[in-house]
Amino acid sequence: MIDYKNMTRYEKLQDELKSSPAKWLITGVAGFIGSNLLETLLKLDQKVLGLDNFSTGFQHNFDQVQELVTPEQWQRFTFIKGDIRDLGGCRKVCSQVDYVLHQAALGSVPRSIEDPLLTNDNNLTGFLNMLVAARDAKVKRFVYAASSSTYGDHPGLPKLEEKIGKPLSPYAVTKYVNELYADVFARTYGFKSIGLRYFNIFGRRQDPNGAYAAVMPKWFSALIRGEELFINGDGETSRDFCYIDNCVQGNLLAACTKNREGLNQVYNIAFGEKTTLKELFLMIRERVAVSRSGVKKIEPIYRDFRPGDVRHSLADIGKAKRLLGYEPKFSVRDGLDQAAEWYLENLS
Ligand SMILES: NC(=O)c1ccc[n+]([C@@H]2O[C@H](COP(=O)([O-])OP(=O)(O)OC[C@H]3O[C@@H](n4cnc5c(N)ncnc54)[C@H](O)[C@@H]3O)[C@@H](O)[C@H]2O)c1
Repeated sequence: MIDYKNMTRYEKLQDELKSSPAKWLITGVAGFIGSNLLETLLKLDQKVLGLDNFSTGFQHNFDQVQELVTPEQWQRFTFIKGDIRDLGGCRKVCSQVDYVLHQAALGSVPRSIEDPLLTNDNNLTGFLNMLVAARDAKVKRFVYAASSSTYGDHPGLPKLEEKIGKPLSPYAVTKYVNELYADVFARTYGFKSIGLRYFNIFGRRQDPNGAYAAVMPKWFSALIRGEELFINGDGETSRDFCYIDNCVQGNLLAACTKNREGLNQVYNIAFGEKTTLKELFLMIRERVAVSRSGVKKIEPIYRDFRPGDVRHSLADIGKAKRLLGYEPKFSVRDGLDQAAEWYLENLS
């Protein structure tokens, strides 16, 4: 018999979704977070419509998800190759779904510094298109990927949702303006959305390649492939690294929350623990060294701090816990165990 009393809110929600499936739209579905949302929703027998233009997403992410679900579950997925900068396309996909998980955007602070117009186009014009389309389609809930970069130069730690500083990059500007638009849509049109400020999400299918790859996949890749590994700054820069499964949990809880007080809000989605880059390097090296001889001796090369990067980042996750029932299950160490397994298998 199922013990409902001792289940977490997320476990109960998964149970409810399985018994009454819904229709979901995931934008950016071919990317890291999008493909993980897809995997979880299909495993819960949901119907999923996915939109992506493959600018930083990949067919191989779909191939991997397909291997992880049953053929019946895979059949519940429809993919449309399209761009959120095209309002007509956004309207078409929004009109078919109950819930929207909007992930499509161009990530990376350095990319936005190099090409602010492109970042603005994708992250702001695209976002506004999605808001308008979702509003007009009267979707039940619009959950979007916000970012911890919105805290900018605010020195306070841990980060509380209402205390932000000035953005430090064009990327941060776009993510903050997303929040402002969502708030204005709530006040002006009564449109219900929830923003999730992700803090350094990591895990399977995060792309290790290219100039704009995130630190964790880049380091896994460098250690596994025997390439040079760099630390920007003195190694004392810290982040609140959050395993992907915690992020997926945050999305599903936000989309389905029945707590009215929880709507039209932004939430930190993190684990709530600080890790310095030096500590992270040692943890990754330890895990890769288990199956790669010689890796134990590899040392990082220190170089200059990167412009636009914040020095420390640590989230207070009390608001998401209180209003959404968010209970991150994976610590950084647990998540790294999972991620190491995946990178060792996929990059070897
Ligand atoms: N990964 C993190 O740590 C992190 C942290 C904060 C915020 N975010 C946000 O989370 C979201 C997902 O990030 P991710 O790490 O999965 O990145 P990703 O690059 O792996 O995924 C983004 C996906 O969006 C698609 N996309 C980009 N522009 C598009 C457009 N104009 N039209 C259609 N599709 C488009 C890309 O092809 C890609 O598949 C982004 O909005 C990002 O800004 C991520």
